Amino acid sequence: MEEKKLNTVDLRGRSFLKISDFTEEEIRYLLDMAKDFKDKKHRKEKHQYLKGRNIVLIFEKTSTRTRCAFEVAAFDLGMNSTYLDSSSSQLGKKESIADTARVLGRMYHGIEFRGFAQSSAEDLAKYSGVPVWNGLTDSFHPTQVLADFMTMEEKFGHLKGLKLVFLGDTRNNVANSLMIMSAKMGVNFTACGPKELWTDENVVKLSKEIAAKNGCTITQTEDINEGVTNADAIYTDVWVSMGEPEEIWESRIKLLKKYQVNKEVMSLANSKAIFLHALPSFHDQNTSIGVDINKKFGIEEMEVSNEVFESKQSVVFDEAENRMHTIKAVIYATLKEWE
Ligand code: CP
Ligand code: NVA
Repeated sequence: MEEKKLNTVDLRGRSFLKISDFTEEEIRYLLDMAKDFKDKKHRKEKHQYLKGRNIVLIFEKTSTRTRCAFEVAAFDLGMNSTYLDSSSSQLGKKESIADTARVLGRMYHGIEFRGFAQSSAEDLAKYSGVPVWNGLTDSFHPTQVLADFMTMEEKFGHLKGLKLVFLGDTRNNVANSLMIMSAKMGVNFTACGPKELWTDENVVKLSKEIAAKNGCTITQTEDINEGVTNADAIYTDVWVSMGEPEEIWESRIKLLKKYQVNKEVMSLANSKAIFLHALPSFHDQNTSIGVDINKKFGIEEMEVSNEVFESKQSVVFDEAENRMHTIKAVIYATLKEWE
């Protein structure tokens, strides 16, 4: 008799701190669950599976998408949420992470954390005793890449064998998470940018080890032509990340100007290639930072041209919507009851 393959994935009680903590099977489970939640949401089917639960959202850095995604996901699941930021709480100034964690763990079923040090997220998980979800640290942005891969799968129908290229600051939080996620999911990943901004060697080493087992490749190059040729998806992110000093703009622009994703770069990729960006993005003059940078350095568009951002190839708003569905899956998978 043929044995039925049972779903053995169980993420209850787990934190979501970085992609490398999860197996391919566990990530697949989250992506499938997110798809299911998206279908339910679009059908207007109620899914208040976690009524009466409370979660707290800690933001040391600013946010639009991540905060809204966590809040809407919580409401849709029937939960209550509290928003805390550094200016309106004791966090960091009058109370340590360890003490805050022990207080919040007594009141809440789960904690979202966006901040600077990855160790703060790890410490919150260690001391609170409840699941902690990483909403971005200096090192990683794991919920972002779940949404990115959900979006790629929606557009191509599969993930394995695709070529994803990240252009720009290849050692930032988004690039780090994309590299590890690609290795886990069998996507060929190229980090394309100047050597000065190459991905941390520990992240590269780990990603290459995982990729070797999954039959995909992890490549680093300074050459745009080599990087982008045959790409199915082109990804970029801001040149200066939250928490970096303002003075760094000048050197970053010098290093990254030629890595801007524009029509010429897109034309080197496959004809059906898509454009991805975590957002927010500096693609026009409609932000105060965009205007300021233009005044100082004379450039109107930064990491992506407005033409590409607004083109049919751009899937950035699908990606932004998918933040909510994937975050809902992470919350539900880690807090759901025994069935
Ligand atoms: N992509 C992302 O994390 O956006 P926010 O900074 O607006 O949350
Ligand atoms: N690398 C960016 C991502 C923002 C979502 C930052 O950290 O600011």
